Formats: sequence, structure tokens, C-alpha cells
Amino acid sequence: MKLLIINGSPKPGKNNTAVLLKRFIEGFKGTKGNEVEIFRMNNEQAYKEAAIRFETAEAVLLAFPLYSYAMPAGVKTFIEELEPLLGKCHGKKVGFLVQYGFIEAVHARALETYLEYISGMLCCDYLGTIIKGGCDGLTKSEKGNRKIRMGAYEIGKTFGATGCFNKKQLDDYSAPEVQKKQNSFLLSIIIKIINKVYWEKAFKKNGVTYEGSFAKPYGK
Ligand SMILES: Cc1cc2nc3c(=O)[nH]c(=O)nc-3n(C[C@H](O)[C@H](O)[C@H](O)COP(=O)(O)O)c2cc1C
Repeated sequence: MKLLIINGSPKPGKNNTAVLLKRFIEGFKGTKGNEVEIFRMNNEQAYKEAAIRFETAEAVLLAFPLYSYAMPAGVKTFIEELEPLLGKCHGKKVGFLVQYGFIEAVHARALETYLEYISGMLCCDYLGTIIKGGCDGLTKSEKGNRKIRMGAYEIGKTFGATGCFNKKQLDDYSAPEVQKKQNSFLLSIIIKIINKVYWEKAFKKNGVTYEGSFAKPYGK
């Protein structure tokens, strides 16, 4: 299979999306005959170019970081560029990889629903969405994130061999779905400490009162 991989990270240099893709590709290429074309999509010209490449591709993996529970603006621009292809992509396989900072899978579930919907509108064969949290800092160190990188390798390997994503494999990889109760208790303490130590200092430095910190100068 020939797979077009579109990396939609807006970062100009090293990016966490590329770290996961590297492993995914290693796994995918484990099956003889599989080929990959990687397209870096992070400027106006590239959004248009990616849409042209998408049209002729046999299979596409669109990979990007989660931005504010959604996608980076450039990825949305690219999806809008696909409008002329609505209902015309029969037989084209399309899958997604969404990675981000928070640990839990739940952060990307609304986006996953949207991605499946868009795939349906295009009449593509929707492969699924690889969701992985806890990916901040993947570019900085190989230590401590072996499981994350190897998970991407295994998913790529399965896809390379079968032409499909395995739902159980994706679910195992994206776990935990939500935070454990004891973690949310710990988090509430950490947030209180950050508010006390960091924000109170910042308020003081800028002459802002606690009440003033809720000001909405542009609100109605
Ligand atoms: C503007 C912006 C918004 C972000 N929003 C989220 C978010 O909603 N949830 C989250 O878990 N991480 C969020 N992140 C963190 C990125 O998803 C995370 O750092 C990701 O690994 C970056 O991938 P990249 O290096 O491939 O660009 C955000 C980062 C930026 C810069």
C-alpha cells in the first residue's frame, strides 16, 4: 500500500507529531511493498498542496496535535480545501493521529466524532483515529516515553500488515479514558498551590487585585 502521511503540526522545527509518525512508519514498512510519502503541512501554500495530494492518494493518515480540544487552524483550513471532494472519495482509506499534552483520551473524543463525520461526508473508508495523550516533550527526550513511541510502532505494524486499524489496539493505546479519582484529588491540590504561588505573585507584580483578575474588559 502507498500511504500519504500529512503532518499538520504548526511548529516550524521539531515536533511531537513527527516523533510518533517516525515509529508508526517503521512499523508500517515492516510489511514488504508498503511505501510512504510524508507531507509537512504548516503554511498557506501547503494547505492547498496537501488537498491536491489527498485527491490522488490511495490511503491517507492525517496527523496533528490537539489545540484547544480541536485541531490547529491550519488543519481546519486544509479540511475546508477538501470541499470539492465531498462525496467523491469512494475507496480512499483515511485515518487520523491526534496527540496532545493531557493524559486522558476523553479530551480528543469530540474531535474524533468530527473526523469520522468528515470522512463520511467525503465518502472515504474511515480507518479510525489514533488518540494519544501525554505527548508533551516527546522531542526532548527518548527516556520515559518508550511505551508511547512503541505503541505507535505497533499500530503502524498492524496497519501495514492488514490495511486496517485494530480498534482494541487503538483503545489500549489511548487509555486511560478519564482521570482516576485519586489523580483528580491530587490535581486539585496542585492547582491550588499554582494559584497561590504563581498567580498571586503575578497579580502582585502587575498591581492586580483578586477581584480584578476576573475583569472582562471586552465583555458586554
Ligand atoms: C495553542 C495550543 C493549544 C493546545 N491545546 C491543547 C489542548 O487542548 N489539550 C492538550 O492536551 N494539549 C494542548 N496543547 C499541547 C499540544 O497538543 C502538545 O504540546 C502537542 O504534543 C504538540 O505537538 P507538536 O509538537 O507536534 O506540535 C496545546 C498547545 C498549543 C500550542
